[in-house]
Amino acid sequence: MGFLLLAALVARAATAEEIVLREARFHLGDAPEGWMAPGFDDSDWQTMAIPFKWEGAGMYAQYRISFQLPKGFVRNAAYKGTVLFDLAYIDDCDEAFLNGKRIGKSGLMPLDGKPQSAWDKHRIYKADARELREGENLLTLLVWNRRTRGGIYGGPLRIRMARLEDLVSISCSDDGNADHCKISISSDISFKGTVMVDAFSQNVSVTPEKPFEREISYTGVEPVQISVSIKDRRSGQTVQRKFIPKYCLTPPAPAVPRYNGPAVLGARPGSPIYFRLPFSGLRPMQFSATGLPSGLALDAESGIVSGSVSEAGDYRIEWEAGNAEGIGKGSLLLKVGYTLALTPPMGWNSWNCWGLDISQEKVTASAQALLDSGLADYGYCYVNIDDAWQAATRDSDGTLLPNENFPDIAALGAWLHSQGLRLGIYSSPGARTCGGYLGSLGFEEKDAQTWNEWGVDYLKYDLCGYRAILDALPCVLQADHIRPYLKMEEYLRNQPRDIVYSLCQYGLGEVWTWGKLVDGNLWRTTGDITDTWESVRRIGFNSQRKLSAYAGPGHWNDPDMLVVGKVGWGEGLRDSRLSADEQYAHISLWALLSAPLMIGCDLSSLDKFTLNLLCNNEVIAVDQDPLGKQGTCLYEEEGLEIWGKPLADGSIAAGIFNSGENPVILRPATYLKKAGWAVEGPCRDLWRQRECPKETGIPPHGVLFLKFNAKQQ
Ligand code: GLA
Repeated sequence: MGFLLLAALVARAATAEEIVLREARFHLGDAPEGWMAPGFDDSDWQTMAIPFKWEGAGMYAQYRISFQLPKGFVRNAAYKGTVLFDLAYIDDCDEAFLNGKRIGKSGLMPLDGKPQSAWDKHRIYKADARELREGENLLTLLVWNRRTRGGIYGGPLRIRMARLEDLVSISCSDDGNADHCKISISSDISFKGTVMVDAFSQNVSVTPEKPFEREISYTGVEPVQISVSIKDRRSGQTVQRKFIPKYCLTPPAPAVPRYNGPAVLGARPGSPIYFRLPFSGLRPMQFSATGLPSGLALDAESGIVSGSVSEAGDYRIEWEAGNAEGIGKGSLLLKVGYTLALTPPMGWNSWNCWGLDISQEKVTASAQALLDSGLADYGYCYVNIDDAWQAATRDSDGTLLPNENFPDIAALGAWLHSQGLRLGIYSSPGARTCGGYLGSLGFEEKDAQTWNEWGVDYLKYDLCGYRAILDALPCVLQADHIRPYLKMEEYLRNQPRDIVYSLCQYGLGEVWTWGKLVDGNLWRTTGDITDTWESVRRIGFNSQRKLSAYAGPGHWNDPDMLVVGKVGWGEGLRDSRLSADEQYAHISLWALLSAPLMIGCDLSSLDKFTLNLLCNNEVIAVDQDPLGKQGTCLYEEEGLEIWGKPLADGSIAAGIFNSGENPVILRPATYLKKAGWAVEGPCRDLWRQRECPKETGIPPHGVLFLKFNAKQQ
């Protein structure tokens, strides 16, 4: 019976079109001599089902996978030259061989010098079909895993002959200027056919040496869909791709001063306050304030508030800013008491762009760019150093030291403060951080003191190395998750400084139920985000659905940092792989979730689109709304979700998200009704900052982000 079942499975796994590999011979450790040879004796290796994950940080593993070539596999294909290996995802790096010949490699291994992860890259390797043998073939994989668990994930492995869509690549590249893009078609094979791009159709002959290129201009203030289709006359196969290049929705800020800052700010009695007035508009500007409590001073030229307030209480401060174009006003309720982060923290963190390849120079340049680009005029004020700033050893009295890339963190802190910005740092309750640097285990008090001396205003405390302690317990109770975070809290709160406490333990032990108890100001609710729509959907939409009750002023769910602009985790910067619409959806959702807005990109290479995306004052105001409610999903149907959030002024912010693959056209009022609101009075389109349309299209993965008053139905 067992044998029959197996035979049936094998038969289904290999068809004339596709071979599916679900099993491998597996070896963990350095590669044994001759392991790639067909005749190698792997009888003492394990047989493992694919996918599976293995433990082994900093280790190599080898896979040997035999497969039979079905009859007619190559002969019946339209393109006989290329065979395609879909190896799903591999954590972290791999090198793949067909019958001993290399077919692909992703990431870099220690063998290559400096390791570089490629954990989120879909492995599609192409090989010359002449390398396939009649009958038995051997696919071998060398895998290296950087941290925690590693290996193949995300599916079985698949082998098939290439189709036109695999051999031709079509791109629509734009430089972020949001008014033109270049259509390029390159091909591994030569073909003659037709290219059709909405507005034109052209007969072309594309060869590997001669790609097709054509520049297209568009206005860039509304989405335009560019559809490119090509047909190979010989095979009759066609490929179609649709692109919506970048476009800028946020209208330019007026030249007259405009206050874009929070309505409320928390500080502790006696703690130093650093606050740069977030006014946009033409410079130079002159600033003044009424109601400034004693102990605080405002620099009229720079708009930087500094000092401290010794008496607890609520202080209403009115700001005024003037320039050649006019006067703008703003108002802030300064709450001197216990709770910090009364609105979700906003700023920049080094991780999503620089990863472990970080230096004081890069952080300083990012802070300077935060100022120069105008981002600081919208409230982005934390400048956070993530992992990899620590030296290899503590000094003789146990003080944690920065490494040679950070010559003087205290000087960095002082400079940031002089600019009205704040400094953030990163550590772990374990002996080691995720990047393998020194953590705070056993030195919690000392580290909190050191950070205070350096002027640290924000700590991201990342479980990582402490996982080993949890893993060693016979069973892990919630108290075990809480303990390390409670310990650091005590020392942080003893410092004469307001240190925002950011818990990073990926949501373990339902952190949202106890994050507030350890006085966490924010807590990561999931694993790490990456710049794909799948990741944003999983982390932003799916994982936050039931968490809104746990967020509020001073205590926020953190779905991780923003994946817009140029990111790369230290492994080469690239444009976020999210489309323009996915980025609008990402920022809108984070605003609805009252999520921290931590920019994760290289600020020194911001393009027009990214800046426009990050500087919409009405969108930011939803995120920073002083009521501090987290939005919830109120309506869902195939391809559509509506999330809503009540705001302090009694109005509602709602996002109608198109999670489908095609544009939808709808009447917003009809859909808001379905979500339970009868709109009363005007309705605002927050991205475009104008009256919302009666009927509109929402691009695939895009959003319509609205604010209105409504009667609950
Ligand atoms: C973890 C965190 C990331 C980052 C890295 C640093 O993966 O979740 O945000 O801090 O560690 O090593």
